[in-house]
Amino acid sequence: MSTSETAFRLAARLDRVGFSDIVNIRNRVMELRARGQTVYQFEGGEPFTNTPEHIKEAMMRALREDRTRYAPSSGIQELRAAIAEKVREQNHINASEQDVIVMSGGMQGLFAAFQSVVNAEDEVLVFSPYWTPVKDLVAHCRATPILVSTETARSEGFMETLSRSTTEATRAIYYNTPQNPTGTVFTRKEAEAVARFARDNDLIVIADEAYEDIVFDGEHVSIASLEGMFERTITCYTFSKSYSMTGWRLGYAIAPEPWMTGLKKMTLYSTNGVSTPGQWAALAAMATPADFFEKLRAEYLQRRDLMLSGLNEIGLKCESPAGAFYAFPDATSISTDSRTASEILLERAQVATVPGIVFGIHGEGHLRFSFSTSIETIEAGLDSLRRKL
Ligand SMILES: Cc1ncc(COP(=O)(O)O)c(C=O)c1O
Repeated sequence: MSTSETAFRLAARLDRVGFSDIVNIRNRVMELRARGQTVYQFEGGEPFTNTPEHIKEAMMRALREDRTRYAPSSGIQELRAAIAEKVREQNHINASEQDVIVMSGGMQGLFAAFQSVVNAEDEVLVFSPYWTPVKDLVAHCRATPILVSTETARSEGFMETLSRSTTEATRAIYYNTPQNPTGTVFTRKEAEAVARFARDNDLIVIADEAYEDIVFDGEHVSIASLEGMFERTITCYTFSKSYSMTGWRLGYAIAPEPWMTGLKKMTLYSTNGVSTPGQWAALAAMATPADFFEKLRAEYLQRRDLMLSGLNEIGLKCESPAGAFYAFPDATSISTDSRTASEILLERAQVATVPGIVFGIHGEGHLRFSFSTSIETIEAGLDSLRRKL
């Protein structure tokens, strides 16, 4: 038997697909902790609360009742019906049950969406800074992400800014609101401008609404709810952030045909559906009373305001994030290279952040701080920055 370089080579479609830089930061944090140092961790991307009891209880009940067999790979009918009702009422998206598919988290929904829409050599418009995995999801289609500065779009106009980046090869727009890492919440007017642009240029929108329930200022507008947008939008949701279920790997996508056929094929031949008892737990999550989110938002708001005033006071100038749970201050007073700035904060003050460059060129000069942690950690981290920076 002989091995050759041509045989022992990963499939070419993975060539431009990378690994997350955030993993490297986590490794550094673990290293420091292993040396016995306290690290104030703001680099994460998880809700600070645990999964609510009624959801865990529903999971255990499903197990006790042996609801553990194969389910339809698009999801159990009860859950899909509840999701359709939720998106009609809450998101004003005119979806019915057949436009719903249950997914293994937001990530699988996005993966399937890009795979269903984007061809090799296509271009995808991505508002930037952007959630890092998106460039890899586009790369896996052997397509190219074209970064569009959110800041420029906001100051110079969405139509003009998007037009400058659009070519014959443009196929889709990735539209994330509230945004990770900046916490930007696109306004209704901005959503309408993007929608008009998509319609005028016959583009498909892949909408990522992972943080839809964590909005402090303004309103969450689902772009698929706007006129003429349902048919050209795949919207991806997740239970991860809303219900503190990051490890459950539960989410869903909303789209009519022909996109739903693509989403179904991608699911059928990858995971063949989401764990059946998990789906019964998801159904319980859908029945969570609305005041749960009011309380949750109040908790996040308290943390946001504490983090924001502390960072600004220290000289890390930061705009107020309207949604999600990240602050994204300018860190050029520490270093114009965000990796260096992040390293300095970690070494000197034991404060872990994510360098802005990880979120693309428009994120350079910034650091991402998650304020989804305890008040005590935020206070202690800020105090450490005040004393040691
Ligand atoms: C903007 C955004 N979209 C989607 C996701 C996917 O979340 P999950 O795969 O955990 O459901 C995340 C998670 O961090 C996110 O930040």
